[in-house]
Amino acid sequence: MIFTILTLFPSLFESPLNESLIKKARDRGILDFNIVNVRDFALDQHKTCDDYPFGGGAGMVMKVEPILGAMRHVEQQMGGRPHFTLLTPHGRLFSQDVASGMARRNHVVLICGRYEGVDERISSYIDDEISIGDYVLSGGEAAALVVIDAVARLVPGVIGNEQSSMDESFRESLLEYPQYTRPQCINDLEVPSVLLSGNHEEIRRWRRKESIRRTILRRPDLMDRFTASQEDRRFIREIMEELGE
Ligand code: ADE
Repeated sequence: MIFTILTLFPSLFESPLNESLIKKARDRGILDFNIVNVRDFALDQHKTCDDYPFGGGAGMVMKVEPILGAMRHVEQQMGGRPHFTLLTPHGRLFSQDVASGMARRNHVVLICGRYEGVDERISSYIDDEISIGDYVLSGGEAAALVVIDAVARLVPGVIGNEQSSMDESFRESLLEYPQYTRPQCINDLEVPSVLLSGNHEEIRRWRRKESIRRTILRRPDLMDRFTASQEDRRFIREIMEELGE
């Protein structure tokens, strides 16, 4: 899978895309990154990429033409028109489902906005607008890295054969169950004894119930989307009793 990133700050991507899982996937040819400097496509000799907002107001607005130039360059590089996504705080909200959809593409192009926003007319040229959350970053670069990380781990081969249970649990809209490793006791904090029992069925049941408990306590909104089995419904009743409800 190829990620193309259109940015005014290419160096922001150097270290994050050269470490850990992503680095290994690049070395194995599963992922490829194409970083395009939008400034190279500015039209004037000063390489201007921002300008004052029409109508006045604070801050600068990112110009359309350098981004369009960079998009045309990518189309020529790839020999076709790829799917273009703009990172912006007013895009649709990124989620595990959006990540799964993107992971099915061969080529994802992420356009990082900067300054106080991008000239609205960019919307006529792009296919999707994504926000990673209800807060304002100083640019789309950090958001693009979040998207790349979440999408890359869904690409077959990036995290090995076995998809981690964390992705599985989010697919089901449950939070991950608590995990423990050695030592067995830290400052009187013990690992739950069931995890040391070797009884796989009891461990499975405990983990399932703790996933549900954590979701009820921390993200009750996710429970609306959760389809509970008969066993899950029993766990929910037990948890509610334990919580004194
Ligand atoms: N650019 C600035 N803030 C952003 C956000 N929350 N998501 C995506 N891109 C952004």
